[in-house]
Amino acid sequence: MTSAADRLAHELLGRLGDKVVTSDRAALAPWLTDWRGRWTGEAAALVQPGSTEEVSTIVAAANEAGVPLVPQGGNTSMVGGATPPEEGGVLLLSLRRMNRIRSLDEHARVAVCESGVVLETLHEAATARGLRFPLTLGSKGSATIGGLVSTNAGGTQVLRFGTMRGLVAGLEAVLPDGSVHDGLSGLKKDNRGFSLDQLLIGAEGTLGVVTAARLKLAVQPADHATALCGLEDPAAALALLQRLEGETDQVEGFELIPHDSLEAGLRHLSMKAPLARAHGHYVLIEATGNGDEPSATLLERLLGEALADGLIADATVAATEAKSAALWRLRDGLSDAEKQVYGLATQHDISVPVEAMPAFLEEVEDKVEARWPGVDVSGYGHLGDGNIHLHVRAMTRGSDDWREGEGVEIERFVHDLVVAHGGSISAEHGIGQMKRDELARLGEPARLHAMRAIKAALDPNGIMNPGKLVP
Ligand code: MLT
Ligand code: ZN
Repeated sequence: MTSAADRLAHELLGRLGDKVVTSDRAALAPWLTDWRGRWTGEAAALVQPGSTEEVSTIVAAANEAGVPLVPQGGNTSMVGGATPPEEGGVLLLSLRRMNRIRSLDEHARVAVCESGVVLETLHEAATARGLRFPLTLGSKGSATIGGLVSTNAGGTQVLRFGTMRGLVAGLEAVLPDGSVHDGLSGLKKDNRGFSLDQLLIGAEGTLGVVTAARLKLAVQPADHATALCGLEDPAAALALLQRLEGETDQVEGFELIPHDSLEAGLRHLSMKAPLARAHGHYVLIEATGNGDEPSATLLERLLGEALADGLIADATVAATEAKSAALWRLRDGLSDAEKQVYGLATQHDISVPVEAMPAFLEEVEDKVEARWPGVDVSGYGHLGDGNIHLHVRAMTRGSDDWREGEGVEIERFVHDLVVAHGGSISAEHGIGQMKRDELARLGEPARLHAMRAIKAALDPNGIMNPGKLVP
């Protein structure tokens, strides 16, 4: 028996051709499982439009037929946000063919990118014109602009320019009825009421399909420098952060790495330890130069003072571009390294107010390890943004069903502590399908009511990425 999704795929094949619509299992297969291999779904067809007009045709037809669409970019979601549901009955809407940089104006310092442009491609295009797009993350070689906008991505250099929300100057999107919202003109002032752009950023494809974004570019810094410091604990790291921020606005990345994560990273990449001896924690710092003082000199000066004051125990400023790149490779590889070296873990992408992080980390480590003897709690990541990836490693308790059993209790326990510290259960990875129940459990009633009401108003037939984000 053919389903409504099969019939829609057939209809769209007739209207748009086989370059856009395919039901070929081999073509679909790589996109039905998320990159972490945690969720696998089903879809009647893979639909790959090449233009906004084609997206509009597809969305309008899906709305008419009541067949859900699951938008997907680089398939690098951390929370199953772009994986179709297990039961299928949907079309997988890939934006990867819409990969043109429509314009890049070096004088206005803006680029208009279609959704399928890969982040690294934008980095390269901006660099070639003497500019840069300041947001970066480990999956930059696959993650696409549409996905980054739809998840309000963060990453390792948010400190100065903010998350994706701060870098979007306008969006083009197809709303669930097929109509096109064109916000690409980039008005600096526009007070015509609700901002559709802001609503679509971070909506995880539940309110429409982002087809293009007008993005702010920054001038290339005079230079940049990377440093690794060894210090005792997160409290010392916070004190260093606050001191640096009091002295300069040129720090762009500030990443906390506990000793065991660094060890895993070094082992994973077969690298030598960057500092002579081991420390409880490390901080990776990225600074850019403004032309006054070279950023390496700035870091050497400020870290020298921190060393003299006993705030840090050791530091190295990368002397070459290759050494700087190696330190960032080490940082970007931590997620994989943790998995390889420590195995099963429940992973929490959480934020608390930056100044509350040391107390939070201490409390969560003590309480979780006391309640579940044998597990190991460790957090690394974006301390500068108050965002840590907290891993509770199963260690001696680990077995294949651990994450679904005890792991769920641990996750709830951690999230309760996050909320008690005024934090968020999703700092940068989004909600997707992974955290929807937790959002329902812990979201404040006003937020949940507003989210549900907006979803129902804009997508009354529930065709946009069902089962994600909105509880
Ligand atoms: C990171 O910062 O490394 C990623 O956001 C976290 C991850 O891959 O778990
Ligand atoms: Zn991260």
